[in-house]
Amino acid sequence: MKILVVGGIGYIGSHMLKRFKETNYDIEILDNLSSGQKDNTQNYKLHVCDLSDKDTVYKILSEQNYDLVMHFAASINVEESYNDPKKYQQNNVINTINLLDCMKDLKINKFIFSSSAAVYGEPEHLPVTELHPFNPVNPYGDTKAEVENILKSYEKSCGLKYVSLRYFNACGAHLDGTIGEMHDPETHLIPLVLQVASGRKKHISVFGDDYPTPDGTCVRDYVHVMDIVEAHILAMENLTNTNKSQVFNIGNNKGFSVNQIIQMAKEITKVDIPFKIQGRRKGDPAELIADNKKIINLLNWNPKYSDLETIVKSAWNWEKTLKIK
Ligand code: UFG
Repeated sequence: MKILVVGGIGYIGSHMLKRFKETNYDIEILDNLSSGQKDNTQNYKLHVCDLSDKDTVYKILSEQNYDLVMHFAASINVEESYNDPKKYQQNNVINTINLLDCMKDLKINKFIFSSSAAVYGEPEHLPVTELHPFNPVNPYGDTKAEVENILKSYEKSCGLKYVSLRYFNACGAHLDGTIGEMHDPETHLIPLVLQVASGRKKHISVFGDDYPTPDGTCVRDYVHVMDIVEAHILAMENLTNTNKSQVFNIGNNKGFSVNQIIQMAKEITKVDIPFKIQGRRKGDPAELIADNKKIINLLNWNPKYSDLETIVKSAWNWEKTLKIK
C-alpha cells in the first residue's frame, strides 16, 4: 500500500514516519516546511509543496499511485486563530478541500484526518464521547469541526472513506530521544514547563486558577505521541479492512491539572519550576477528558506510553537535547 503523509515533518507526522519504518508500507511525504525540521524526513521521498497550490498537489498525486492519504498539516495555535481567523480557514479548511478535491478527481478514496478535541468546546459531560455535539469555543476548533463536516460531504459525493482522529492533548517525545515537540512559538504547557526546568525560560505562566476544577487550574487529557501514531496504524488497517468511515477520540481517559503537570515536572527534573498565576487564556475549556472506549474496543488500541511519568520523562529527555542545540 502506498501512503502519502501530508505534514510529515511536523511533530506528530515525524513520529508517524518513524513508526512506518517498522512496516512495509510505501511512504512519501508532502510538506510545506513551515514547521518541523527537514531532517525529520527519515529518508522518505519529500514533496515540498503547500496545499494552497492545488495544481502542484494534483500533479504530485497524479504521478504516484497513492492508496491512502494521512493529513497532519494544520495551523494549531488557538490564540493565533483568534487574531488571524483567515489564516486558519485557509490552512486548515480551504487547503484540506484542495487536497480532498485532488483525491476525488484521482479516485484516491482513503483518508486519515488529524482532528481535535477542540471540536467539542466546553464539554456538556465528562468524559467526552464521540457522540458529544460539536460546539467549538475557538476559531481553531471551528476549522477542525468544519473539516469533519466536509469529510461527510465528500463521502456522500464520491465515496471517500475516512477516519477522523480527535486528539486530546498530544505530548511527549519519541523514547529513542531523536525527535520530539518543537513549535515556534511554543505555546503548549509541557514543553514550556520543561523549558523553565532547563533554564531556557524564567517561569511558567499558569493561565487561570479559578476554574471549577479540584485545584482551580485547567484539566487536560494528555496522550503520548507514540500512542497517537499507533492509533493511526490501527485506524488505517481498520479502514482498509472494513472500508467504513469512523471517528475516534484519542485520549487517555485521565485528567491532569496544570498544577499537577508542574509538580510532575519538578519531580522528574529535580529542579524548582517558578510559576506565576495569570488571567485565563481565551478559548480554554475548564476540563477535557476523553471517553476512549470506542477506540479501545473496536481497534484494540492499547496506550503504552501515556502515563504522566513517561510523558514528562520523554519530553524532558528531548528538551535536554534542544537546550544543547
Ligand atoms: N497553559 C498554561 N500555561 C502555558 C501554556 C498552557 O497554564 O504557558 C494551560 C492552558 O491554559 C491549558 C493547559 O495548560 O489549560 C494545556 O494547554 P496547551 O496549550 O498545552 O494545550 P491546549 O489544551 O490548549 O490545546 C490542546 C491542543 C490543541 C487543541 C486543544 C483542544 O494543543 O491543538 O488541546 O482543546 F485544540
